[in-house]
Amino acid sequence: MNTLQRRLVPLQEQANTALDRFLPAEEKAPTRLHQAMRYAAMAPGKRIRPVLAYATGEALGVQLATLDPAAVAVECIHAYSLIHDDLPAMDDDELRRGRPTCHRQFGEATAILAGDALQALAFEVLSSKASNGVSNERRLTMTNTLAHASGSLGMAGGQALDLAAVGNNLTLGELENVHKHKTGALIQASVMLGYLSGNGHDDDLAERLKRYATCVGLAFQVQDDILDVEGDTETIGKPQGSDAGLDKPTYPHLLGMDNAKATANRLCEEAIACLEPLGSSAETLAMIADYIVKRDR
Ligand code: IPE
Ligand code: IPE
Ligand code: MG
Ligand code: MG
Ligand code: MG
Repeated sequence: MNTLQRRLVPLQEQANTALDRFLPAEEKAPTRLHQAMRYAAMAPGKRIRPVLAYATGEALGVQLATLDPAAVAVECIHAYSLIHDDLPAMDDDELRRGRPTCHRQFGEATAILAGDALQALAFEVLSSKASNGVSNERRLTMTNTLAHASGSLGMAGGQALDLAAVGNNLTLGELENVHKHKTGALIQASVMLGYLSGNGHDDDLAERLKRYATCVGLAFQVQDDILDVEGDTETIGKPQGSDAGLDKPTYPHLLGMDNAKATANRLCEEAIACLEPLGSSAETLAMIADYIVKRDR
């Protein structure tokens, strides 16, 4: 294992264990729905959103167990967004995380419901009293933060902008706006839920973490666009060339590949600069920023 893997793997494993604990058992009725939820949420994804929540909390001295609800909640919202993103009415993709997409495996109706139920589960986990030692006031703020990031002014709104942009020539500012909403909002919420899981108050730090997350969130989708062109289907676990096939607005399409890569690298540097006051406690967050623009999957 290299240094990055030594940091990421334990956090990914923590996320998988927590997801397994919070997701309803497959044997519990309605079994087909629970199977579909687990199929989508437990499939081998990178778990970058829970990892960001854990790494942010860890940098502030919060115990990993305290961060489990935040980590599970953001991954449930993400898994739901992927199920719906792949549906025929949206990107109409057949492969996700190296497996048939949820609607290919379980049918569209069950896939839609699995997405709905994962979204509800995210908020149930965050608001559940039994879940951890975070204060009620903080859990209310966390619930509000995740709701805003997931809804029409966040991820769902970004998906609407993405669909409306098909076939249009967007300006760079317009494309940035799509990406910041469809992907950036949930990534920012992941970092902020990590921050909020600690009971500390530091407005300056919160602002810096937000800026870190804005840069990382945008860089993440720019790299996703790059991999849609340069990645191979087996490695990325989803169909390469999906964006071009659907005439989706992407960074490489608008800026050219070299400029798209330069943009991702610049965003990564900007993100790392925001972490300066945290010193060595933010090393994992810095490594994640770097990984996001170097990843091949
Ligand atoms: C894919 O997200 C969808 C985007 C928002 C770009 P990820 O690349 O995090 O997917 P998984 O979770 O690793 O499968
Ligand atoms: C997806 O963007 C964003 C969300 C799921 C919210 P993409 O459509 O580019 O994601 P992939 O490439 O299918 O994973
Ligand atoms: Mg899409
Ligand atoms: Mg898609
Ligand atoms: Mg994509």
